[in-house]
Amino acid sequence: MEIKGKTAIVTGAASGIGLQYAHDLLKNDAKKVAILDLPTSNGQNSAAELEKEFGKGSAVFYICDVTNAQQLEDTFKEVINDFKQLDILVNNAGIMNDIRYETMVNLNLLGLIRSTLLALDHMGKHKGGAGGTIVNISSVAGLVGFPEMPIYVATKHAVIGFSQALKGKFDTTGVRILTLCPGATVTPLVTEAKDIYLDFVDKYIAYETLLQLEHQSVQHVSDAFIELLNFGENGAFWVVENGKLPYAINLPDYHTLTVPIEKKK
Ligand SMILES: NC(=O)c1ccc[n+]([C@@H]2O[C@H](COP(=O)([O-])OP(=O)(O)OC[C@H]3O[C@@H](n4cnc5c(N)ncnc54)[C@H](O)[C@@H]3O)[C@@H](O)[C@H]2O)c1
Repeated sequence: MEIKGKTAIVTGAASGIGLQYAHDLLKNDAKKVAILDLPTSNGQNSAAELEKEFGKGSAVFYICDVTNAQQLEDTFKEVINDFKQLDILVNNAGIMNDIRYETMVNLNLLGLIRSTLLALDHMGKHKGGAGGTIVNISSVAGLVGFPEMPIYVATKHAVIGFSQALKGKFDTTGVRILTLCPGATVTPLVTEAKDIYLDFVDKYIAYETLLQLEHQSVQHVSDAFIELLNFGENGAFWVVENGKLPYAINLPDYHTLTVPIEKKK
């Protein structure tokens, strides 16, 4: 896919990896990027910095709490009205906090589902749209069961399942579904991950374990993101971890995973 001339929404793009995605979309000649983020975020400054580098109107900040269904719907309408088209949605906004798990599920899963449905309404060929691409941001936590954060893990596994199912509707929607699973990356989500663990988790061990993981830069993840957009086929799942080159994974048919049931007396 050519990114050139395309318009995009990136949720949670005021800072962190999302800001790098927005930057690199513009660097690859996207026409306009909408940054959807909280009113308390750095969104206004981030958009201004991007405009300095890529021209006036290239990046626009929209105050939008992705957990607020009405605000999300209104913001999608506003962006589409302003940009006249929407080609790419990046479902990036997310938190990692097993204590605030209702908010986290509402954001990491329900928010991602809501914005996907809104994008499909606009881009879907079944609704008269021109097709497009949705990139869902999961995590390596969506592929393994880190015992320290079971609810975060659950939200990221759910993103994998959602993408896995939705990719099967490409012939109807014309919307490519791509999923990126980053490993530990240097952002506040990891570096400030202190009071986020349930009471049966040893938070000191959990925090130290997280910090000891091999961290990669947001630029490294975003390079993989741009490659995925350029070359990923519908239904692609890519992992980018430990600062190494990204790789694609195949989710196995569960029938190939059978093991005998051991009945111990
Ligand atoms: N950092 C990592 O190690 C890592 C690894 C794998 C996956 N991820 C995923 O990547 C995504 C981005 O993570 P990050 O590390 O850049 O986090 P971050 O905390 O640095 O940035 C998250 C952004 O989302 C915004 N946000 C939070 N709640 C929001 C809401 N309700 N509505 C709109 N915006 C909201 C924040 O204001 C912030 O700008 C998340 O989905 C995260 O789960 C991160």
